[in-house]
Amino acid sequence: MEIKVPREWRLIMKKETLSTNEDVKALPSGSDKIAVCAAVQTGGRGRMGRHWVSPEGNLYVSLCLELGSLRHAEMYSFLSAVALADAIEELCAGIEIKCKWPNDLLIDGKKASGILLETDGKGRLIVGIGVNVVDFPTDQMLYPVTSLAACGFSVTKEALLEALLKHFDLRQRQLQKEGKTPLLDSWRKRAYGIGAPISVNLPDRQLHGIFGGLDQNGCLLLNKEGEEIKITVGDVFFGRIERNENG
Ligand code: BTN
Repeated sequence: MEIKVPREWRLIMKKETLSTNEDVKALPSGSDKIAVCAAVQTGGRGRMGRHWVSPEGNLYVSLCLELGSLRHAEMYSFLSAVALADAIEELCAGIEIKCKWPNDLLIDGKKASGILLETDGKGRLIVGIGVNVVDFPTDQMLYPVTSLAACGFSVTKEALLEALLKHFDLRQRQLQKEGKTPLLDSWRKRAYGIGAPISVNLPDRQLHGIFGGLDQNGCLLLNKEGEEIKITVGDVFFGRIERNENG
């Protein structure tokens, strides 16, 4: 299938690569709105330095964005998750996608995609997106995981990529024009577990409390014994989970 890309975007397709995020970092300057997609990654990377298992059949794509041209760059974690949810919902009738802070998508309460945002020191934001289309790792996962196929949804990764680029572009235009409220509201509408007990692993400690939603900047609100704590970075687990050596 020929993949249509939105106006101003360019797509580079590869058979195999180490990591599409690394491919984007190696692009020359002036590569705004270039997407690199690979069929297989041999060194796919996840958040917090973890490995992202990347067999053939799933979607691995990274987008290159010039930070200087972005309004509300701090919103791109949510923008990426919401655009991906829009794309999956367009292709999978009846699917229920939930958003888990900051940018995971869950189906049936299990993680079906991962998003890794990085900057490259050259003024660019790299948005790396992996979607479990047909396959998902079963070994030593921090969270329960699934794939679209395992949930009964049959889509091609090409159709998903086309829809993702379309919705990413639409959400970018919405953010530029209308600001962050519509985007955060779209995330909140799909939020998983507001009011539920959560554990948050911060780089240096673990907090337990009740998930209170998002503030107007996208910070996670944790209600802990009557106190409201704003969290900007961390790994969220539902329930009271004690930290182990993996996370
Ligand atoms: C996570 O830990 O949830 C984020 C996973 C991000 C994986 C994607 S796949 C495409 C891009 N290339 C990588 O090496 N990582 C991201």
